[in-house]
Amino acid sequence: MEKVIDESVQGNSLSTKNKKANTRKLYIESYGCAMNFSDSEIVASILANEGFNTTQKLEDADLVLVNTCSIREKAELTIRKRLEKFNAVKRTRPHLKVGVLGCMAERLKSKFLEEEKIVDMVVGPDAYKDLPNLIKEIDQGRNAINVILSKEETYGDIAPVRLNTNGISAYVSITRGCDNMCTFCVVPFTRGRERSREPQSILEEISDLWNRGYKEITLLGQNVDSYLWYGGGLKKDFNQATDIQKATAVNFSKLLEMTAIAQPKMRIRFSTSNPQDLTLDVIKTMSTYDNICNHIHLPVQSGSDRILKEMNRLHTRAEYFKLIDNIRNIIPDCGISQDIIAGFPTETEEDHKDTLSLLEYVKYDFGYMYSYSERPGTMAARKLEDDVPEADKKRRLAEIIALQRQHSGYRLQQRVGKVDEVLIEGESKRSSEHWMGRNSQNSVVVFPKENSVIGEFVNVKIEDCTTGTLLGSIVKK
Ligand code: SAH
Ligand code: F3S
Repeated sequence: MEKVIDESVQGNSLSTKNKKANTRKLYIESYGCAMNFSDSEIVASILANEGFNTTQKLEDADLVLVNTCSIREKAELTIRKRLEKFNAVKRTRPHLKVGVLGCMAERLKSKFLEEEKIVDMVVGPDAYKDLPNLIKEIDQGRNAINVILSKEETYGDIAPVRLNTNGISAYVSITRGCDNMCTFCVVPFTRGRERSREPQSILEEISDLWNRGYKEITLLGQNVDSYLWYGGGLKKDFNQATDIQKATAVNFSKLLEMTAIAQPKMRIRFSTSNPQDLTLDVIKTMSTYDNICNHIHLPVQSGSDRILKEMNRLHTRAEYFKLIDNIRNIIPDCGISQDIIAGFPTETEEDHKDTLSLLEYVKYDFGYMYSYSERPGTMAARKLEDDVPEADKKRRLAEIIALQRQHSGYRLQQRVGKVDEVLIEGESKRSSEHWMGRNSQNSVVVFPKENSVIGEFVNVKIEDCTTGTLLGSIVKK
């Protein structure tokens, strides 16, 4: 999922108070998870107030920012290569400044400035409000760094500048950080402790998006289902909250309901769900409100109880199956997707077979599958030897992907003959006479345009499918 995004700015509701004249150009590139893409929109908003317009042309840039990902070694290597490219550009344009944001900034901290002379500025995920000061520093020829993690920062007061937008779908972040400490994962180290954003600011952002023509939002968090607002503060400190705070606290199912009621025509998605935190209440709320999409991204990582334990995933295989059964009972046509890691330390062929049999049981609609990549500083790196040979990791991953592909085909095939509501997102990549959009389950649907327009909801009769796409035609509502 390491993708690159450039930025074309859509109008935003940014306060123009204290805004400086737009005289400089910012080129920002994002890698990794949806949260990084969402954060880049916050950064663009903060810098718009400092006089920076975004540009999609590197050659026009005065400032290059790279919002980085540390989740796997390969992501970091890709970004390092990209930084070398920016260094080459700098040699021809000495006034150009380069900053590193996000998880690599947090993980490597001042090492970036010491070892990689190419970088002028290093800013961790909780320090973006300090960017105006940091930029003053680099303007005066000094290096600048802020990698302090915060207990409060949620950027709830910042109206993001929507980058690279289709004007239809937007991310709205609702929690930051993660308290889960899965042993393979670097995120708790790079993004800090979990905290939730004030519900009113979430509702206001969504209302503003609706007023600007957006039709779909995705509530974002590393673990959205553990959202908990009780007046601010870390999730882990909730026990010390006052009785009033506890009585008026808003959990994820409540927030989902508030959002669905406040914006009855907006499509609502959310990601990512951690199995241990996805409650029956959330599933019931999904089934109660038509505008909440029937899709749950529910990473499992492994089908083996022993490996789940080594990973510090706080549920068993049987509990996961129970959750899947509950989802299917309450929302029979719910799309379910996964993340899986192949070749976690100590994984045997037996464990791997457990993963394959779990896949067989669930038959996910789609998934994101990776081979294990040891991340320095994590519990797994400290306690376990990365002992599964690379060839085995690769083969196991290939087997998982092949099986998932079969299941994706099976799930798509099951929709043939049905009529799905589709939100039109844009033109099909293959044909200018076809639109592409998604159904509630998050599957891509392609169909002839007829008289419909981008942003419209249409009913599409599903007539056929390819390996990853549903094909159909519009029917009258
Ligand atoms: N809760 C997060 C998970 C972030 S990481 C979310 O919002 O998506 C995304 C996925 O990357 C994880 O679910 C896991 O499958 C994978 N991943 C994380 N650390 C990894 C590692 N060290 N090696 C391989 N894959 C990893
Ligand atoms: Fe990472 Fe586990 Fe949190 S995968 S982001 S530590 S839920």
